[in-house]
Order: sequence, then C-alpha cells, then structure tokens
Amino acid sequence: MTQHLTIVDHPLVQHKLSLMREKETSTAVFRQLLREISQLLAYEVTRELPMTTREIETPLRKMDAPVLAGRKLALISILRAGNGLLDGMLELIPSARVGFVGLYRDEETLQPVKYYFKVPENLGERLVIVVDPMLATGNSSAAAVQMLKDAGAKNIRFLCLLAAPEGVARMKEAHPDVPIVTAAVDERLNDKGYILPGLGDAGDRMFGTR
Ligand code: URA
Repeated sequence: MTQHLTIVDHPLVQHKLSLMREKETSTAVFRQLLREISQLLAYEVTRELPMTTREIETPLRKMDAPVLAGRKLALISILRAGNGLLDGMLELIPSARVGFVGLYRDEETLQPVKYYFKVPENLGERLVIVVDPMLATGNSSAAAVQMLKDAGAKNIRFLCLLAAPEGVARMKEAHPDVPIVTAAVDERLNDKGYILPGLGDAGDRMFGTR
C-alpha cells in the first residue's frame, strides 16, 4: 500500500455509513452495519497481502493454487470501540491473531496512558492491522501505533470507519509509514474532540451506553 490515506468510496460502504450516522439508528442496527462495513473495509486493507502457491489436488488434477504467504496477520483492537470493527473482520479472516491495546487519557497531562496491552508474538513478521472506528485527534492512535512499534511491529496499517483531518495529519506526522484506510474523512473536530458531522460516540452507539 503506497498512499498514506485510502478512502473507500464504494457505494455499499457509503450507504451503510450514512445509516450509521443517523441518530435514530438503533444499537442493534448500528452494530450490524458496523459488522458489514468492517468486512468491506477488511477487503480493501488486505488487498496487497503477499501471496504464494501451494500444490493442491482438485477432483480432476493437481494445480499450484494461490494462498496467503507468511505468518498470519495480526488484528489489534484499540479498546473498546475497536472491538466493533474486529468482530466482522474476524468472520472474514478467522485465523488472524488478535491483540488488544487499552488506553485512557490522563486528565492532568492529557497524554494517553496504557492500562492494557496484549499482542501476538512475532509481531515483526506479521502484517499488523490496527482497528479503531474513530480517528479523531489521533493522539491515542499515534500512541497505540508507537507501542506496537516498540513491541516489534514493522508493517502496520490503520483501519478506521471515520477520520477527522486533524487525526489524519497527526498520524501522518507521527507515523508516515502507516497507511490509513477509512470510509470517510469528515469536516473537523468540535471543541470536545468529537468528529463533525461524525456519528457521535462510537463506543456508546455500538454498546448502548451513554
Ligand atoms: N470518538 C468517538 O467515538 N467519536 C468521535 O466523534 C470522536 C472520538
């Protein structure tokens, strides 16, 4: 993946995203739509996975069949909203390894602080796809990616549903080597760090909290 930002403008993705944005959309429908979109985004983010061939036998003859090469990829969910993207992706890539990064914001320093970090081994030999639906300020995303690099990850992609220009810029500055795949880049952040027009708090909307 050569470009830093890929916007998946497929009509199905855009239609489903519009339904998710609507405030009247219920928790159950929101969750289902996120699951569906995550599979369409997964298709895009894995487009250039390296391939090899393996000799197989069809009922008629032998052939060298294309299969994925290398170690299984690692999906890393940024808690808690990342889990909404993770579920659908795992349906599509059931053998992927999975990791979790939990961060909270220190109210005094405003810096992201790690409270949970559990990732697959041999990160350096895997394609690592970090999933978090909302790329807002980009501070926690940039911190999570740094933690993964510190743990050995070398080939990282960032997958989100919605991004703010501020978050894209922050990630580009901190991690120019990490391509971002998203369904849309919205207008801007509001003064509370929410994406406008956005869809509200993704975690609250998918888990029915407030
Ligand atoms: N996180 C969310 O869930 N929504 C936003 O708009 C920004 C960050």
